[in-house]
Amino acid sequence: MFYGLNNFIKKILPKRLFYRSLIIVATPIILLQIIITVVFFDSLWIKANKGMTRSLVSEVQTMFDVYKKGDVNEQEMIVNLYNKNFDFVVAFKENELLPTKKTERWFSPIDRSLRRELKPVFDSFWFDTTSYKELVDLRIKYKNGALQIFFPRNKIAPSSARIFALWITLPGFFLILIALIFLKNQTRPLVNLAKAAEKFGKGEFIKEFRPSGAREIRQAAYEFDRMRKRITIHLNQRSEMLSGISHDLRTPLTRLKLQLALLKQQDIAKKMSDDIDEMERMLNEYLDFASEQKHEKTEMININQIIKNIVKKYDDKKINLKLEEDKKINIRINSIKRCLINLIDNGLAYGKKVDIFTKKTMQSIVIIIDDDGPGIPENEHQNVMKPFYRIDKSRSLNKSGVGLGLSIANDIIRSHGGSISLEKSPLNGLRAKVSLPF
Ligand SMILES: Nc1ncnc2c1ncn2[C@@H]1O[C@H](COP(=O)(O)OP(=O)(O)OP(=O)(O)O)[C@@H](O)[C@H]1O
Ligand SMILES: [Mg+2]
Repeated sequence: MFYGLNNFIKKILPKRLFYRSLIIVATPIILLQIIITVVFFDSLWIKANKGMTRSLVSEVQTMFDVYKKGDVNEQEMIVNLYNKNFDFVVAFKENELLPTKKTERWFSPIDRSLRRELKPVFDSFWFDTTSYKELVDLRIKYKNGALQIFFPRNKIAPSSARIFALWITLPGFFLILIALIFLKNQTRPLVNLAKAAEKFGKGEFIKEFRPSGAREIRQAAYEFDRMRKRITIHLNQRSEMLSGISHDLRTPLTRLKLQLALLKQQDIAKKMSDDIDEMERMLNEYLDFASEQKHEKTEMININQIIKNIVKKYDDKKINLKLEEDKKINIRINSIKRCLINLIDNGLAYGKKVDIFTKKTMQSIVIIIDDDGPGIPENEHQNVMKPFYRIDKSRSLNKSGVGLGLSIANDIIRSHGGSISLEKSPLNGLRAKVSLPF
């Protein structure tokens, strides 16, 4: 049962830290206000109102009793006295019945206690507490008419409950507003840290990241920044070393080729020289990729635009486009172009036609490249992503690939925080599914 309750609370609680902290701050304030209001209203206001009403009714009763017993002169005197001393305005309305219109408000404690106090004293009466702002109109049946008594409203209402409510809620709102500003400042550094981590994960360029906020957040941000720098240095070192090796290998290869040219057995020399050519191509391919990848900045761009540009360069008949989503994403344009070109090249090299789709999911853009070639068996899906891996030479006969295409494509997409997966396409060939987060 507690588990269910826990789940329910988790579900209705806001997801963002800012709103959660706001609830923590605002709930006690609001609760306190409600308690103070209830206590004030019940124990102070209502009690005071009852006491005041009781004494007012006694005054009215006294006046009424004297009025009833006196002659015209005495009646006039008592009316004047009450006017002077209690601010009562009294008039006898002859031949006038009590109004039948019901004016008592059911939710008003003033009306309720007035009725309760008047009931045991007078047989027939009517009052109206709303028509005048500061006066109450009370009528009591007397002889063939009614005695109309106007008395000040503040004789029965201690103070305005509305003003009290205003006084109690305004500071509350003010406190919540202050908390809002402070909380925003406290959560902002955390939000910035999360954004920086997300950017880094997608391989976007982060300028200088300045830790700020509370000590713990600052520390986390500082450690993140150090980790980010270490990873960047590590990545750069690795690709620089590989580039260095690739570059240096070209010199001995050239030397080997020269020496082969001088060899007597030309048939062997020819085969060896072909192998050396292939090795050179591999090295050049890698160096190309490494130099391009190095300092490219990310840019916001529409992915459909890029695909259209690439496809323009191919023979249109072989490629079908079905581009759905029009959304800009932050990418390294040349790298993404290279990746897509590698995938399309594969499709056209191993199959005859290629279909390209794009679609949008909750968090990413998916680019699907289908072909009608022989496809790749599932147990090779992992292998073909490895550098220089080719399934079998016979399949790629007459094709000058070196086996870097897919691994470069994979590397590029991963550095954008995305992924490539391979499947069987509806055309019976290979389906490459690229998803890029935005
Ligand atoms: N669309 C495809 N259909 C069938 N097999 C494929 C397809 N794409 C790749 N392969 C297989 O996966 C292997 C690796 O592909 P990859 O693109 O990495 O290298 P490559 O095409 O041989 O050379 P290159 O470096 O010029 O791209 C290929 O040799 C091929 O056997
Ligand atoms: Mg290829």
